[in-house]
Amino acid sequence: MAGETVINVRGLTKTFRTFKKQPGLKAALKSLVRRDYEQVTAVRDVSFEVREGEFVGFLGPNGAGKTTTLKMLAGLLYPSSGEATVLGFTPWERADGYRRQFALLLGQKNQLWWDLPASESLALNARIYGIPAFEAQRTVGELSQLLDVQKKLDVMVRELSLGERMKMELIASLLHGPRVLFLDEPTIGLDVVSQKKVREFLRHHNATRRTTILLTSHYMADIEELCDRVVIIDRGAIFFDGRLAEVIDRFADHKLVTIHSPEAATCSKEHLARYGEVVDQTEEVVKLKVKRDRVIAVCKALLDELTVKDIDIEEVPVEEIIRQLFGSR
Ligand SMILES: Nc1ncnc2c1ncn2[C@@H]1O[C@H](COP(=O)(O)OP(=O)(O)O)[C@@H](O)[C@H]1O
Ligand SMILES: [Mg+2]
Repeated sequence: MAGETVINVRGLTKTFRTFKKQPGLKAALKSLVRRDYEQVTAVRDVSFEVREGEFVGFLGPNGAGKTTTLKMLAGLLYPSSGEATVLGFTPWERADGYRRQFALLLGQKNQLWWDLPASESLALNARIYGIPAFEAQRTVGELSQLLDVQKKLDVMVRELSLGERMKMELIASLLHGPRVLFLDEPTIGLDVVSQKKVREFLRHHNATRRTTILLTSHYMADIEELCDRVVIIDRGAIFFDGRLAEVIDRFADHKLVTIHSPEAATCSKEHLARYGEVVDQTEEVVKLKVKRDRVIAVCKALLDELTVKDIDIEEVPVEEIIRQLFGSR
């Protein structure tokens, strides 16, 4: 299925040197003479490979180093040490041949001109890449239809909704038909409908063009629907690299047990707490978060104690697992 290695990252490290500000006047005066610097290692000895056509989720808590990594892979930042090649190019050498084959979309930044209608802004982007106008128009027509913004092409970028603007940004990123896409929070702040549309679009794009995609997102729904594989980074270093399903196997230490019973409401909280954390309790349902290795024993005990109409055993949502993994930081 997956083809040749497209992204190859070896020991990539990025340390920022930042001026350390001390509070107070005395410190400010002192700093005129001698400045204190602080080293922040944003990315620490990161290695991974991505094959052609893969759609990889790049996860980690805030400040983990995701954006810094993507910026290095897009050639916007030089690494402090380590190597990377994307499509055979070293990104920070900024070869024209590379520029024409990848795109970086930063959800928190915009690349379109605010004071132009979207279509003109896109046309300008196309010209920067030397794409013939007719070709750009065709691509814009096609992509805007897929993203359901064809009626918004004449609207000034500044007047577009956040969702509409992000879709236009996405179109701008794809005008030159990149083979590799770095998407940094492309759905951030979007309403649920736009999020879904963007997701569907990305899935379709990846499937039909075999575009290799590295995606960061705060929304686990994006990752769950799009990515078989996730690379998780924490404090600059790789924490996990594997299938999303494995994250659940490896890190979920609980399951959710739902008991349907007419006596559900009569169980005391204290009693239920012996089996696990009570997540929900209504007239007919008790939902417990139970340690994985106790699930069977707990189900047996509850079957003895109550008139049980039905039992559901589910995995804890990935979203919660990730939150638990990093919640304490
Ligand atoms: N230009 C910069 N100068 C100094 N520190 C930076 C700079 N960019 C990022 N950092 C720091 O590097 C770390 C990683 O940041 P970032 O890559 O943006 O994380 P993420 O995208 O995973 O939230 C953070 O501690 C951040 O404050
Ligand atoms: Mg970021």
